[in-house]
Amino acid sequence: MTNAVTYELLHRDKKTGARRGVIHTPHGDIQTPVFMPVGTQGAVKAMRPEQVADMGAEIILANTYHLYLRPGHEIVKEAGGLHKFMNWDRAILTDSGGFQVFSLGQLRKITEEGVSFQSHIDGSRHMLSPEKAVEIQNALGSDIMMAFDECAPYPADRSYIKDSMERTCRWLERCKAAHKDVERQSLFGIMQGGMYKDLRRESAERIVDMDLPGYSIGGLSVGEPKELMLDILDDCVDLLPEDKPRYLMGVGTPDYLFEGVERGLDMFDCVEPTRIARHGLATTSHGRINIKNAKFERDFTPLDPECDCYTCRNYSRAYIRHMMKSGEMMSAMLISNHNLHFLIHMMAGIREAIEEDRFTEFKKEFYEKYGGFK
Ligand code: GUN
Ligand code: ZN
Repeated sequence: MTNAVTYELLHRDKKTGARRGVIHTPHGDIQTPVFMPVGTQGAVKAMRPEQVADMGAEIILANTYHLYLRPGHEIVKEAGGLHKFMNWDRAILTDSGGFQVFSLGQLRKITEEGVSFQSHIDGSRHMLSPEKAVEIQNALGSDIMMAFDECAPYPADRSYIKDSMERTCRWLERCKAAHKDVERQSLFGIMQGGMYKDLRRESAERIVDMDLPGYSIGGLSVGEPKELMLDILDDCVDLLPEDKPRYLMGVGTPDYLFEGVERGLDMFDCVEPTRIARHGLATTSHGRINIKNAKFERDFTPLDPECDCYTCRNYSRAYIRHMMKSGEMMSAMLISNHNLHFLIHMMAGIREAIEEDRFTEFKKEFYEKYGGFK
């Protein structure tokens, strides 16, 4: 029996925890560390899959919660699976619904069985459980499926977090038992434990015991101060095995990507680059800009003069500002393209720097231009 997904460590940075590797999947290799664009409902918003592939993305993320509610996993299965349905033949990771049911579902009730909730679309009542989350992800056919977990709120008291973390461990056992075809899809476990280091450690020990093909750190970036998150990460990452991919869920601003990579994480995802794009915000090597700002009215330079993406090669800030102000979809398309390219290109630079043992220098140069950790 071979796992669908395996990790190959290529090089370890001499000075930090950063590591360079490859994740092998049934839909191609993923060079790590990697940023995964988010395609919640089976589309990276405002982007065609060809564009996402052309900028070098080797994996995207989709959501169990959304695709289950609409159009329904049975329909995606009938279409031949999510890859075929959405015309993306590279790797796909699906989140389990364990996060979205808490952020979007209404009138939630958590029991040992799972979470019952009302759809944010039409108010209909549903139940997600470990077995259901596996069934849905099996139907979607993603390469990497995530365990059904509870992403606990912040702040929360210790006894709540302890119960929640222990339940998430029991749910993981049920996910593992329910998932049969391990050669087609790989199930990743999720560490929880809130901001309590001893609970994080216990969570890590229990999930690592289950010998899964990959592990992630969940329950972070939920409103805690940045320093606290980094402090937790300092402690957590080494609790996960070296020979498996390590994924930090829901984190993907440029500064956090550097901080995560430095601590030995391999995978990241975030809706931010495409979400802020729709509000007119672009990430550049000199920090973030708001294209709606009047100072760009006659600015005929690209979003980022140092960027060679399709947007920056062909369009000016003045034009994109005009599109944004006029309510044209073009603005979201152009800025999303740039923002994703920026992060994917940045990760390529990070990978090269790790290979050459100059990650620290690369990070310093990046922060100097970008304006530091913010
Ligand atoms: N996305 C961001 N954080 C989390 C988490 O803790 N669990 C899951 N399933 N998804 C996430
Ligand atoms: Zn660009």
